[in-house]
Amino acid sequence: MSSSAAPAGNAASASSVADTRSAIASPSTATTRPGGTRSSVIRGARVLITGAASGMGVLYARRAAAEGAAAIALWDLNEATASDLANQLSARGTQALAVGVDVSDRQSILSAAARTREFLGEPDIIINNAGIVCGTTFWEHDPERDIERTMRVNALGPMWIVREFMPAMIADAARPKRILNVASAAGTLANPHMSVYAASKWAMLGWSESLRLELEREKHRHIRVTTFCPSYIDTGMFKGVRAPLLTPMMTPQVAVDAAWRGMLRGTPVVSKPWTVKLGMAVRGVLPTRAWDFVADRIFGVYSSMDHFTGRSQA
Ligand SMILES: NC(=O)c1ccc[n+]([C@@H]2O[C@H](COP(=O)([O-])OP(=O)(O)OC[C@H]3O[C@@H](n4cnc5c(N)ncnc54)[C@H](O)[C@@H]3O)[C@@H](O)[C@H]2O)c1
Repeated sequence: MSSSAAPAGNAASASSVADTRSAIASPSTATTRPGGTRSSVIRGARVLITGAASGMGVLYARRAAAEGAAAIALWDLNEATASDLANQLSARGTQALAVGVDVSDRQSILSAAARTREFLGEPDIIINNAGIVCGTTFWEHDPERDIERTMRVNALGPMWIVREFMPAMIADAARPKRILNVASAAGTLANPHMSVYAASKWAMLGWSESLRLELEREKHRHIRVTTFCPSYIDTGMFKGVRAPLLTPMMTPQVAVDAAWRGMLRGTPVVSKPWTVKLGMAVRGVLPTRAWDFVADRIFGVYSSMDHFTGRSQA
């Protein structure tokens, strides 16, 4: 088992962290509905975003800042780039802290959680966005580097993070809380050359939806869980793929906008584009081999990863 935790870091000085903490310790709460109105959810909120140094993570962070978040913790393996973003957001008036963390490692998460608490207190919003993919046949996956790491980053990390912060989120019903778990369309259907990635996203979808139901049954209505299931997005993570029929490659802006609005509303599952839901419905009613024919020959889903290159490994 690998444990390559990056050191937890901080874009702000110790004294500025202390000053910031006292400034954001009591964010304004005014909300009359347990789930909050859309504007009350983000204004004054303390936000934690994983995978915040690149792709959609950056857009979530900028959106949170633009809509009035009190403070944002930017968690990423790539601490240097997260620090640049933190500095940009701080320069525009939003308290932001870059935290170097490896979400595949529980100890690293616990260190990052301590740094985050020191900076902003307990988060009101958690966006589990960090993710990795290995696009090859299952038997070409390295057992540790590819299989175990993908499951840890994409499935276990989000569970450990939410488990760490959930007791405080439950206890503080004074303001609305949100958890956005970024899964994938790959969590809703099987696809060659992404077996472990699909497995990790199926795990996330099942966990995230079960968590939502538990919170609803236990009447913790101030916490809303949204699971996001997008198809391919042009961030570079899936470089080389061919988008299936009626499922064009989305811009990161379109994808983040859909996830963000769903999160604020407390929508349980956001699928994007509409063909993701269509695929789930058709797969549900067709015999498996008939669905295979439709997915492969008509929509071109099964060959979409044939020319995958992904991000170049530095
Ligand atoms: N891009 C797509 O086509 C697509 C489609 C569906 C779902 N998604 C999901 O959306 C999320 C974001 O995707 P993206 O395209 O913006 O990816 P990206 O590669 O641009 O960004 C991912 C970020 O996660 C960080 N990260 C990776 N491993 C980490 C670790 N162990 N600890 C901490 N940080 C780590 C990376 O440093 C990077 O900053 C992922 O969960 C991905 O699976 C992406």
